Amino acid sequence: MAGVVQSVQALASSLGALPPEFVRPEHERPRATTFRGASPLQIPVVDMSLPDAGSRMVEAAREWGIFQVVNHGVPADTVAELQRVGREFFALPQEEKQRYAMDPASGKTEGYGSSVQRSTGDRKIWSDNLFHAISPPAAVNHGFWPDKPRGYREANEAYCGHMRRLTREVLERLSAGLGLEKGAMAEAFAGGDDGLVLMQKVNFYPPCPQPELVLGFAPHTDLCALTVLVANDVPGLQVSKDGHWYDVEHVPGALIVNVGDQIEILSNGRYRAALHRATVSKEKTRMSWPVFVHPRREYIVAPHPRLVAGEIPAKYDYKAKTFEDYTYCKINKLPQ
Ligand code: OGA
Ligand code: NI
Repeated sequence: MAGVVQSVQALASSLGALPPEFVRPEHERPRATTFRGASPLQIPVVDMSLPDAGSRMVEAAREWGIFQVVNHGVPADTVAELQRVGREFFALPQEEKQRYAMDPASGKTEGYGSSVQRSTGDRKIWSDNLFHAISPPAAVNHGFWPDKPRGYREANEAYCGHMRRLTREVLERLSAGLGLEKGAMAEAFAGGDDGLVLMQKVNFYPPCPQPELVLGFAPHTDLCALTVLVANDVPGLQVSKDGHWYDVEHVPGALIVNVGDQIEILSNGRYRAALHRATVSKEKTRMSWPVFVHPRREYIVAPHPRLVAGEIPAKYDYKAKTFEDYTYCKINKLPQ
């Protein structure tokens, strides 16, 4: 049985001053470090209904490791329903959410949790979350899917169906951009699309009395292959490029796609994993719903053999580490 989750949400609602463990040193604070003013650089928005969608994604994955997609075919009401059930879950009493508590001692990462309970050593981040597998069926443990609010399961299953289609399409485009067959990435990661593991997360960032001193999420790259994220209309996601942090603008109806570590490594550095972080707001609750595409656990983390042939050496050498070991090392901040 997991302990009581000390949530940021509960803390935020009972708060006088900001507890010191959340306060970032000067050089990490969001306001001091965000790029302001006329920037020639914009995070690309790719219209998936246009013929150049594939080449625009490939270019964005090389330059930024992140882009937004519109006309992606995921119905607005499917997204709205996913967001409704997530919002209503976080509005439940603490004891109800607690029923799904993530147990750090179990070695598993699924469940309801908070950085208040998880962070060790580091500064704490201003967010709580819910995390569970959604695909394939054999990877799903419904014990981590809340049974309140009503409709949680249907909403997640409907959204999952669209995520399987959309992530397959993005992986195909990015495979083609490397000169590989379109099924090459899914094949390498999981022996084909059906083996890819999709994880749904719901991030909850309550209002913060001093948002300029904290981060909702510290800078990181996602350890998965690919992430597709939808947020509510409160901005907060930022991405680093050439030493500056840029805001990801809220584009209504868009989904945000970012390259994770596994695609960077598989591509032997041709694509880059986006370094990103999240800021929080003083008045508003921000929420986001990332879906992470994971290789199967036994996948060996390495560049694709076709991309290291001849004169081009492998830039990454993990000595036959599996994705499971890679994940363990990254979460526990052990050397790779
Ligand atoms: C994450 C993440 C950013 C966001 O959950 O890995 O980077 O916008 N979230 O919530
Ligand atoms: Ni992330």
